[in-house]
Amino acid sequence: MKSVNKILFVCLGNICRSPMAEGVFRAKAQELGLSLQFDSCGTGGWHAGEAPDRRAQQCIREHGLDISDLRARKFRQSDFQDFDIIFTMDRSNYEDVIEMANSTGDKEKVRMILSEIYPGENISVPDPYYGGDQGFEHVFDLLNRSADKVLSQILHQ
Ligand code: 4NP
Repeated sequence: MKSVNKILFVCLGNICRSPMAEGVFRAKAQELGLSLQFDSCGTGGWHAGEAPDRRAQQCIREHGLDISDLRARKFRQSDFQDFDIIFTMDRSNYEDVIEMANSTGDKEKVRMILSEIYPGENISVPDPYYGGDQGFEHVFDLLNRSADKVLSQILHQ
């Protein structure tokens, strides 16, 4: 993996999956002493300015973390310049972001986050927004395992 300092997480609304990813990566990076910067955003802007969904906040809180400080925003063109890796939560986010890329370099930054733990399988983080609390726990588990993998690679880069 190339030298990585800034990582962006992208989902649809930026109130469930990507802020959870940001919270999990932020906490683990801190534990490991890695000085990385993280942000998250949505391909849609309907929730811009809002805090994460209360179910996402609660799930994260049950694991000892706090994402109440995060605020939603929409993905923007300059994110390609500003970040080293852009992790999308699902295939549709991936395609939306790739569509906005202006160069091969931009496209090379974009990855499906679950390809880190399920390489080549093209698996999406399921959207928990319309489901029950159990969906958030499943999302947490997937993100937790992805963060372990990605951050250990960065630690040893
Ligand atoms: P997220 O979940 O993409 O994980 O933040 C969603 C949140 C809101 C909506 C869809 C998905 N929405 O349609 O408002």
